[in-house]
Amino acid sequence: MSLMRLAYASEATFQAKPVEKGVEPHVARILMTSRKNNARDQLVGGLYYGDNRFFQYLEGDESAVRETYGRILKDERHRNVKTLIEEPITERTFSNWSMKYVPLSKDVRQFLDAEGLESFDPANFTADQCEKMIELIRNSSQDQKLVNYDDDRATGNQPQVMSGGLKAGIIVAGICIVGALLFAGSML
Ligand SMILES: Cc1cc2nc3c(=O)[nH]c(=O)nc-3n(C[C@H](O)[C@H](O)[C@H](O)COP(=O)(O)O)c2cc1C
Repeated sequence: MSLMRLAYASEATFQAKPVEKGVEPHVARILMTSRKNNARDQLVGGLYYGDNRFFQYLEGDESAVRETYGRILKDERHRNVKTLIEEPITERTFSNWSMKYVPLSKDVRQFLDAEGLESFDPANFTADQCEKMIELIRNSSQDQKLVNYDDDRATGNQPQVMSGGLKAGIIVAGICIVGALLFAGSML
C-alpha cells in the first residue's frame, strides 16, 4: 500500500454567510461529509478557509487520496483548484484521521503576518509557505483540523472570556438579586 500527500488551493463559489461564532454554514456541510468519508478512508487532512479561499491538505493511501481528490475537483462549491503538492510519502505524519473543527485562527494570522502576507491567498503560497501551513495543522492539539481564520476576525479577535458555566452563574446571580429586591420591596 503506497502513501501520498496532497495539498491544493481553491476559491469558494458560495457567498460566505457572516458568522459571529463557529463555522460558515457551507463550510460546515463540507466538514460533515469530509469527516464521515475521511474517517472511512483513513485519510487525515486539514481544511483552512478564509477570505473565501480554501487550503486543504490530505494524506493517506494513494488510491484513497486520489479518489477523494477526484470528487473534490468536481465539487461546484469551489473553483480554480490549484494543486500545490502531490507526492509519495514513506510514512504517515499524522497520528489520526477524523475531521474536527479547530479554531486555529490566531496561528494562521500570525503565520500570514510573519510572511508579510495581507490576505489568505494559498494559490500563491511558496513551497515553504505550504509546508508551514501543513505544520500548523500537524501541530494542532486536536484530532483533526478545519480552520476558519475568519472566526476570530468576526469577533474582533477577542478570546472567549466567558465560559458556559460563568454565564449560568451570572444568570443565577441576577435572578437572586431580582428576588432579593422583590422581597425587600414587599417588606416596605
Ligand atoms: C473545499 C472542499 C473540501 C472537501 N474536502 C473533502 C474531503 O476531505 N473528503 C471528502 O470526502 N469530501 C470532501 N469534499 C466534498 C467532496 O467534494 C464531495 O462532495 C464528497 O466527497 C461527496 O461525498 P458523498 O459521496 O459521501 O456525498 C470537499 C469539498 C470541498 C468544496
